[in-house]
Amino acid sequence: MNMPVPKAELHLHIEGTLEPELAFALAARGGVTLPYADAAALREAYRFSDLQSFLDLYYGLMAVLRTAEDFTELTDAYLERAAAQGVRHAEIFFDPQAHAARGVPLGTVVEGIGASLERSEERYGISTRLIMCFLRDESAESALATLDAAKPYLDRITGVGLDSAEVGNPPAKFREVYEEAARLGLRRVAHAGEEGPAAYVREALDVLGVERVDHGLRCMDDPELVDRLARERVPLTLCPLSNVRLRVIDTLADHPLRAMMEAGLLVTVNSDDPAYFGGYVGENFDGVRDALGLTGEQLRELARNSFEASFLEDDEARRER
Ligand code: ADE
Ligand code: ZN
Repeated sequence: MNMPVPKAELHLHIEGTLEPELAFALAARGGVTLPYADAAALREAYRFSDLQSFLDLYYGLMAVLRTAEDFTELTDAYLERAAAQGVRHAEIFFDPQAHAARGVPLGTVVEGIGASLERSEERYGISTRLIMCFLRDESAESALATLDAAKPYLDRITGVGLDSAEVGNPPAKFREVYEEAARLGLRRVAHAGEEGPAAYVREALDVLGVERVDHGLRCMDDPELVDRLARERVPLTLCPLSNVRLRVIDTLADHPLRAMMEAGLLVTVNSDDPAYFGGYVGENFDGVRDALGLTGEQLRELARNSFEASFLEDDEARRER
């Protein structure tokens, strides 16, 4: 077997790595009843018509994540799979508001994920960063309160992100939150241009000051924006299998990734919510290689991009590669 190429994963929701089998094991341990007969029946329900249809199931299944140990186990399982696929560095999203709404405090989540991340280098050879995402379909006040609640844990949180239902929840809604995050010295990223328009990508850059755009594929509707993203080397974290499963595009062969590379954009390949979308980062790389006919050099460029786009310091990024 070929050794997988060393890569960084920069767009990964830890809750989206919850495999059906682990969901049932955690449900049994925590006394939670799931509305599915078994793991196979749950997997059968993973037929999504759009982002919202996925989010409804995704937030519902989080009911099984209750204790710090649950989050540690979830994170360990991801890191083990990622290591086997050549991941050397992972920047991991989590959704504190989705847990707080169920009575699971931010501290429990950070301590749980953190216990796994602490030993990740030693156990899995993966360096990590943690990025706290705000739910854009919740209010800016709720995001500000979440940022406030995170203050005791900022030694373990590198940055903030913005996710959940995009259309109708433009980046500018979170101007103040991102200003406060910047004052606290946090790095800034946001989902934009997944289902929402190119204008949301501009707004994420101009109003939120993001350093990296998650998805961003709708930028292709706006040639001037593409020129700017290329000139400023703003990284875009693409998730090809996610885009097909959430019907952003019809098939992998329709994915704009190759056109984006040819336009000079700094794009990376990631898995988003791999337990739900049919594969981890390795399957995403293999999928675009086969569907788009990417060359070995293009695949190596994608892997190099992932380190360049990461929040590793330059010397660390060179060492990882
Ligand atoms: N939360 C988890 N996955 C997401 C995605 N693909 N888009 C927006 N929010 C998300
Ligand atoms: Zn995402």
